Amino acid sequence: MNPYRHWRIRRDDDRIAWITLDVACSPMNKLSVEVMTELATVLDDLERYPPAAAVFLSGKDAGFIAGADIEEFTRLDSPQKARELVGRGWELFNRLAAIAYPTCALIRGHCLGGGLELALACRYRVAVDEPATRLALPEVMLGIVPGWGGMLRLPQVTGPAAALDMMLTGKGVDARKAKKLGLVDECVPARVMHNAARALVLSRKPARELPLLQKLLNGPLKAVVARQARAQVARRAQQKHYPAPYAILDMWSKFGGNALAVPADRPTSLDAIVASPTTRNLVRVFFLQERLKGFGKDSGFEASHVHVIGAGTMGGDIAAWCAGRGMTVTLQDQGIERIAPAIKRAARVFERKCRGDKLKARMMLERIVPDVDGRGVRQADVVIEAIFENLEAKHKLLAALEPMIKAEAVLATNTSSLRIEDIGAVLQNPARLVGIHFFNPVAKMPLVEVVSAADTDPAMARRAAAFVKQIDKLPLPVASAPGFLVNAVLGPYMLEAMRCVDEGVAPEAIDRALTDFGMPMGPIELVDLVGLDVAMAAGKALTGAAAPPKHLSQLVAAGSLGKKAGKGFYSWHDGKAQKGKTGAVPEGLAQRIIQPLLDATRRCVEQDVVADADLADAGVIFGTGFAPFTGGPMNHLGARPASPKPRPAQAARALPRAA
Ligand code: NAI
Repeated sequence: MNPYRHWRIRRDDDRIAWITLDVACSPMNKLSVEVMTELATVLDDLERYPPAAAVFLSGKDAGFIAGADIEEFTRLDSPQKARELVGRGWELFNRLAAIAYPTCALIRGHCLGGGLELALACRYRVAVDEPATRLALPEVMLGIVPGWGGMLRLPQVTGPAAALDMMLTGKGVDARKAKKLGLVDECVPARVMHNAARALVLSRKPARELPLLQKLLNGPLKAVVARQARAQVARRAQQKHYPAPYAILDMWSKFGGNALAVPADRPTSLDAIVASPTTRNLVRVFFLQERLKGFGKDSGFEASHVHVIGAGTMGGDIAAWCAGRGMTVTLQDQGIERIAPAIKRAARVFERKCRGDKLKARMMLERIVPDVDGRGVRQADVVIEAIFENLEAKHKLLAALEPMIKAEAVLATNTSSLRIEDIGAVLQNPARLVGIHFFNPVAKMPLVEVVSAADTDPAMARRAAAFVKQIDKLPLPVASAPGFLVNAVLGPYMLEAMRCVDEGVAPEAIDRALTDFGMPMGPIELVDLVGLDVAMAAGKALTGAAAPPKHLSQLVAAGSLGKKAGKGFYSWHDGKAQKGKTGAVPEGLAQRIIQPLLDATRRCVEQDVVADADLADAGVIFGTGFAPFTGGPMNHLGARPASPKPRPAQAARALPRAA
């Protein structure tokens, strides 16, 4: 009889204890309080009858350990509770690290956060060489710190530079990179993983030691490393918005990686982190992302063949993205000479992605089939129209396509400004048409809007969402309203920024004010990137008769269309905007320019463009990069004391549950 709910111990003939984590009633392993408490009992039991060695492994197909249970973070409403949670893991993993017999973590699939901290507390680590294997300490992305020994032990095995890079960005490494960094002792194929772990624990090799220079950098020279890393962090994130990376640096360099040792009154203490709204908001953003991932889950729809019509900026990149995700793609345009540039672009992307593995890159490229005659339409599971933004052209195309498409296939348009109702008007069955609105550049933007008209068949919209999820994008269901959600909120924001230019404020000052607010890029640079002609057309579509900003009109008339023309509000060289001195930033500038975005988001919620305020926040964060530390525009409106129309109910809104 297994005495544990989540763990299993099997002792073999070599007296190795194989300790399997298989968390009850969960598809993946998470280190909840209950699982950690039971691990303490497991260690007690092992202490009574010590094995010759122990190997930790997962009983799940999904991976090793996904980390701590993030649901539990939402209940950390006092510094005391945070200290208890951190203290429990810190002590338990110190205990694991102190075990006299050899211990090993056998890592297959994801090994994240607390999972990697458990693995780091073992003497050895074996990683299975598969694409799904990923090791990371992503705590910083939730505004917290790897307090269960990660800040102590990761620098001890990889040296501080690699460790800080992982801890300060949250970025993960695969099995091969982990082996290169010294993070794992072995990187092996799945079929020999048990034998590799067995051989390692029986070898009694001492744990890997850092070379002398790395030891110095992780010892007496910590201050030098920390100074450099701090300067890098400061370029990406301000301490007032994102305290966690600064805390990680302080805890590592001055407190031996022990979060509990930092005095409560220091700005880098656990107490300060728990008190910061950023932590709450980033955890909120995590759950918002989980909620988006949940859309389309129930449809059971799976696509294997996508037919894209229009091989231009968007169609070409959509085709490459889908092929990169394992789908067969037929790509149609008016002539082969129009398809060729898209294929060339895709070839470059795949070469970069496959890092020198030419065969793999070629296999990906071969999944894109040029298809001038549109033969792929009949077999496709998803048909995406991405031709010119012209209603007549779209009508002609769709009317011809409809009789050829499989009954169960998704028929989608990538339109950014036309109404789905208007486009579908020529169809025998307009209910089958959905919008699948990708953003430019396709490879970089995580969000895709799934647009329904009033009479769109909800089953089709669910299928479209399932497809979006299948290609690893975040689907956001929206209604067919002008600009949908993302462009409807970006438009007024960019317009206000351009009005400021008309009033004489320097573009540099505007962009600086907004990046200081926490936007990934200033609005004027964004207009240059999108293209001034596109901005002008979008502005017309969204605002109707309102006169466009003066400078915008002048620049468009002069052919200065932004980055693509080498000149717009800025001059562009080598893909970079040439900015002059920022000069004085007028008081309240960021608030003035953000306000129209906040108002537009609220309007979209009131007009049911999105189902609720949380989804509006998710869409604006993942569709525009809106400062994640705020928790999104609606959350920001609710939390901001000086808000013109405070909505206290909003701030108190419970977090959506993970899907
Ligand atoms: P584009 O002008 O780069 O490409 C359009 C392509 O469609 C051209 O290669 C053209 O030859 C082809 N085409 C036109 N009529 C055709 C037909 N009857 N049959 C086959 N091919 C045909 O356009 P872009 O920018 O890629 O836009 C495509 C769609 O995506 C538009 O609806 C646009 O509103 C939307 N969109 C554009 C974004 C952008 O940033 N460019 C962002 C999101 C959506």
